Amino acid sequence: MNRLTIIKPDDWHLHLRDSPYLESVVGDSARQFARAIVMPNLSPPVKTCKDALAYRKRILSALPSDHQFQPLMTLYLTDNSDIEDIKNASRSDYIFAAKLYPAGATTNSDAAVTDIKHIYPILDAMQEYQLPLLVHGEATGDGVDIFDRENRFIDTSLNAMRIDFPELPIVFEHITTREAVDYVVAQGSKMAATITPHHLLINRNAMFSNGFRPHHYCLPVAKRESHRLALLKAASSDSNQFFAGTDSAPHSRQAKESACGCAGIYSAYCAIELYAEAFDLAGDFSNFEAFMSLNGPAFYRLPVNNSKIVLQKSSWTVPETLPFGQQSLVPFKAGQKLQWKVTSND
Ligand code: NCD
Ligand code: ZN
Repeated sequence: MNRLTIIKPDDWHLHLRDSPYLESVVGDSARQFARAIVMPNLSPPVKTCKDALAYRKRILSALPSDHQFQPLMTLYLTDNSDIEDIKNASRSDYIFAAKLYPAGATTNSDAAVTDIKHIYPILDAMQEYQLPLLVHGEATGDGVDIFDRENRFIDTSLNAMRIDFPELPIVFEHITTREAVDYVVAQGSKMAATITPHHLLINRNAMFSNGFRPHHYCLPVAKRESHRLALLKAASSDSNQFFAGTDSAPHSRQAKESACGCAGIYSAYCAIELYAEAFDLAGDFSNFEAFMSLNGPAFYRLPVNNSKIVLQKSSWTVPETLPFGQQSLVPFKAGQKLQWKVTSND
């Protein structure tokens, strides 16, 4: 197979940052995707509807003028989130979910939720209004091995929320393990998961290949090869519970190549091509369009996009660096060849 035509995809998990970095990255997502669920972990975080609507305006004004891209906004939950904001978000045409970061789990999560019990009234309201809960599923704390954090989160928090709020739509974000795949499948239609292109393409060895590779460090960290294979199987399966969410998370080259380097992989430059590369490895494109363009809108109860894109099998090289404000960043697969290219996009 050398040519693929699919409905234009959406990115169901994206970090766009804020000015001056926003202006550098938003064009990459807008060039590839029709819509994206925009993460709220700015500093300070996007906690209220007012914050989200103001951030949306900043995104729209940073967009190149000829783009139709729609940012789908989210709220950052804290121990003190306000139920009024949940109610208003559920009625808003621009806000589509609220995000649970366990405090301290990842970039700019210090102000987030210290104990899920603190947000039970919020979850109750979200269940009532059917506002999806997006979960960074990693247990925190020094005692938890970094490779076990996702599984521990299922046991200590996610399963309790599932049982206590059975009708709450939950997206288990950027899953990285076979156990997470199995857990999602077992929960049925009120749970879905996003899968990133990098977790489909690398395992944890990529972080330690002839030296430490900071550009392969993200959270949750990549796991062993058997988990990558389980993710690839889930993404390319006919289950409608899995869909694309890049978790493209730009940090400057300096912030990554540091004694305490930031977590995050920048994939937005070539996200669709990276997913195509992964499905090609699986040797099965039959569910590619569903994973990229149908399952996400169905879960979020949004219409499917009405334009199409074409991908052609043709080798090209990802740039070594890209501009990032006054700095630069190193994209995923920098300097490496990819086999697929988006050739037409309307
Ligand atoms: C994200 C970021 O930098 O904002 N980093 C990452 O490694 N994925 C935060 C997140 O989604 O965990
Ligand atoms: Zn993320």
